[in-house]
Amino acid sequence: MALERTFSIIKPDATRRNLTGAINAKFEEAGLRIVAQKRIHMTKAQAGKFYEVHQERPFYDELCEFMSSAPVVVQVLEGEDAIAKNREIMGATNPADAAPGTVRAEFAESVGENSVHGSDAPETAAQEIAYFFSGIELVG
Ligand code: CMP
Repeated sequence: MALERTFSIIKPDATRRNLTGAINAKFEEAGLRIVAQKRIHMTKAQAGKFYEVHQERPFYDELCEFMSSAPVVVQVLEGEDAIAKNREIMGATNPADAAPGTVRAEFAESVGENSVHGSDAPETAAQEIAYFFSGIELVG
């Protein structure tokens, strides 16, 4: 197993309900280390650039509107197999399909307002980390 880094967002539905600490506790309890973290409020254009891979999807505008509707917490999580481990901790995209105990099963409100984002592969993790953080901000 390799020490890996993944990118994570605690989304507006979760920051609005003051769930940052509860979600971070799940990451830490599962052995992931938060090596960078900041609270930001994205513009719709910044959210649109981040999610540009989804720009042809019918939910793209709604997604960008939502992601810029309130502050988010962007973070870099480090650990053994961090990308896959974080996806396990998050649970399925649609909370109706998420396994018990996962972040989305416990906290997500809908498929759109689903509390967290996590990178799906090493290439996207590297791109997503670089979109929000400079190297000097990553403190392992
Ligand atoms: P995320 O992991 O951030 O990546 C893309 C996001 O699009 C996803 O989580 C969901 O929040 C959102 N999404 C996916 N499917 C839908 C949908 N059918 N309707 C609204 N939003 C969606």
